[in-house]
Amino acid sequence: MAFNPLKEKGIAFDKQMKTWYDIVKRPYKREEVDCYTRTRQILMNGIETEAWGFKRAFCRMFDCEETKNLVARIRRIEDQQQTTINWLAPANQSVLDTTLGYEQVAVDLTAWLAQNEPDEYVKETLDFGLLEDFDHLYRYAQYSYLTEGTNPNDIVHGMTDVVLGRPTQNHHNCNGMRIRNAYDKANASPQTKANILTIVSAEQQTHNYYAEHGFMYGNDDLRRTYAEICDVEEEHVTMYETLIDPSETWLEKWVTHEFTEVCNYYTCYKDEVDPKLKQIWEEFLMMEVEHLQLAAEILKKKENREAEEIIGTTVYETCHFESQKKYVKEILNSQIDKRLNESQGYAFIDELPDDWTGYAVQEAQNKLGAPSETAIRISMSTLGRDVVSADNKLIKSQPELLERGLEDFSQAPNTVSIEEYQEFTEVPIPDFLKNDNKKEE
Ligand SMILES: [Fe+2]
Ligand SMILES: [Fe+2]
Ligand SMILES: [Fe+2]
Ligand SMILES: [Fe+2]
Repeated sequence: MAFNPLKEKGIAFDKQMKTWYDIVKRPYKREEVDCYTRTRQILMNGIETEAWGFKRAFCRMFDCEETKNLVARIRRIEDQQQTTINWLAPANQSVLDTTLGYEQVAVDLTAWLAQNEPDEYVKETLDFGLLEDFDHLYRYAQYSYLTEGTNPNDIVHGMTDVVLGRPTQNHHNCNGMRIRNAYDKANASPQTKANILTIVSAEQQTHNYYAEHGFMYGNDDLRRTYAEICDVEEEHVTMYETLIDPSETWLEKWVTHEFTEVCNYYTCYKDEVDPKLKQIWEEFLMMEVEHLQLAAEILKKKENREAEEIIGTTVYETCHFESQKKYVKEILNSQIDKRLNESQGYAFIDELPDDWTGYAVQEAQNKLGAPSETAIRISMSTLGRDVVSADNKLIKSQPELLERGLEDFSQAPNTVSIEEYQEFTEVPIPDFLKNDNKKEE
């Protein structure tokens, strides 16, 4: 790849301030947008929110007036970029529509990163998170249909399957147990650094979106489901952010942040099918090239280090979106019964001790029932089955998957049983749930 972000000519910093008319653009159309244009828009909003939040912390912690001055000025540009991107979503895209988009980001991005991650432990962590977000998509799809009459394929366009994953009620662990081993900054590939910051930004944005929007529905079961899944996203941020070497200096982290922005805009620009968004990705890419080079200059001045030592001389495609059904199925079949162990690694359910730390948390949180199970019960009472979208074989394997993936200990009292899933397989899938989107593989 010939794009070296430390050598390209970006947009001069004094040309980056925009008018209100440039910041706020016309949104895409809910009915017409490509599902992966929407996932790019959702992800890049999260990337900019992280760029902004990191620079807030930076100025509170970094004791140098000159550097703080520059970082504060760049931060305002990050904030303007965030507004532009987030507000590309149209006013008639509901909170649940957007939520399905968020979980589609989580599934298809995580699967992509796992297959493009050089560090085995980081890859294993991505595969672990993948099956949890995959289950979230399924739980939210119930409410999306029952509350708003939306077929999940109106949003995910048949590119991402909707069936159960590792059951959400089993995602609740001691947050201390979610802490992972950090990479070693001296040996980690720049690709690993950018991959992790990308997934951290996506998960943090998802957490924040649920925390800020779950209250916008009147249905208490749905509100509780948002609370439950929001709490899992908090665990996901913990899991991914602790992969980052905490001994990186503030300036090193700044360089890595700008580099991650460059990599993601580069990928968005390369992949985008909507000409209006493609233009935005291109412009923002060249703004980020300038941010990166400004950060690299400060690194040189303050620490006498070259940015190249930290990020190398090329970009990585950190957010390529395409259908990942095959990969997700593989991981689902081989790892649905995987859990965290007590020593920052992984174990299968059979290997967990009876006093495993996660059980106490699950008992405390689920003792009155898991809202993510109520989601399926509500579908059962209306449709006689759950809302799903996948090939028949995968749909029919749900009872078997549940049997392997659900823990016997500390089950929520309202858990939908394997027998009940077995009964679903007898109930035909209603026509309106069939995927009539032409984009299906
Ligand atoms: Fe930015
Ligand atoms: Fe999720
Ligand atoms: Fe997540
Ligand atoms: Fe930036």
